[in-house]
Amino acid sequence: MREKMRCKKGLGLLAASVAAVFLWVTFSAAVVECPDTIVIKNDGWAKVKYEPVQFHHKKHSTEYKVPCAECHHVYKDGKNVWKEGEAVQKCSSCHNVYKLGKELREASDQEKKMSLYKAYHTNCKGCHKANKKGPTKCTGCHAKKPKE
Ligand code: HEC
Ligand code: HEC
Ligand code: HEC
Ligand code: HEC
Repeated sequence: MREKMRCKKGLGLLAASVAAVFLWVTFSAAVVECPDTIVIKNDGWAKVKYEPVQFHHKKHSTEYKVPCAECHHVYKDGKNVWKEGEAVQKCSSCHNVYKLGKELREASDQEKKMSLYKAYHTNCKGCHKANKKGPTKCTGCHAKKPKE
């Protein structure tokens, strides 16, 4: 099933009406929302040291000009075949290895690839670091949880 994305900036009037017709024609199909802000919080961590991450999703595409496929992918034969407009799965539906710390350092290469910790930190922090823009300090993305 094809789904319509609502994450485009500055849709022109023409494009908007075309989109409206398209939406009308396919109105029975699910509409994939492209959220403004996403609270990133996964439940599988053995230990949770930090508060959930407030991620300005839309700003990253509109203001910071990060292409969708910089963060979203579906690999087939080593190539990213995901296209804008297609449904998006949670990172954790594929990156489902929750190991942290020493356990992660000692994990196999395959497990490291599928590590959720690495998925976020390589993608998010990696870009911030490489471009010297955006937070790279731990507390820049998630505040420490108060001790219980
Ligand atoms: C660019 C943003 C970003 C930065 C910088 C960052 N993280 Fe994270 N971190 C995340 C995201 C996103 C998650 C996933 C949150 C969730 O699933 O609850 C996460 C989760 C974690 C988790 C597992 C969940 C938890 O709450 O304990 C640990 C541990 C962690 N980060 C440690 C660190 C440390 C240590 C640093 C600094 C060296 C750091 N992070 C810097 C984005 C970031
Ligand atoms: C900087 C990284 C980044 C960029 C750029 C980005 N996204 Fe996302 N997107 C995410 C993350 C992270 C999530 C949450 C995934 C999760 O919960 O595991 C997400 C979630 C989504 C979802 C699912 C929302 C839901 O509620 O299920 C859709 C749809 C989506 N993105 C579409 C897009 C489209 C279209 C673009 C480009 C216009 C885009 N994204 C750009 C990181 C990004
Ligand atoms: C449909 C499954 C799937 C989803 C959903 C997915 N990934 Fe991945 N991701 C993969 C696979 C498979 C690889 C390994 C590709 C390869 O073999 O090089 C990968 C690789 C990566 C890598 C490079 C890891 C490395 O060590 O080379 C990063 C970073 C990453 N993903 C981040 C994310 C983030 C962030 C999200 C959510 C916004 C996400 N992924 C969602 C399947 C997925
Ligand atoms: C390909 C590059 C790229 C990726 C990937 C990326 N960011 Fe960013 N991020 C930026 C840029 C550029 C800024 C803007 C910095 C500025 O203008 O000061 C930014 C700013 C931020 C900020 C501070 C400003 C705000 O809007 O809240 C946070 C928090 C943040 N990013 C979190 C994340 C998280 C969490 C992820 C992963 C899910 C992520 N980023 C992935 C490029 C990226």
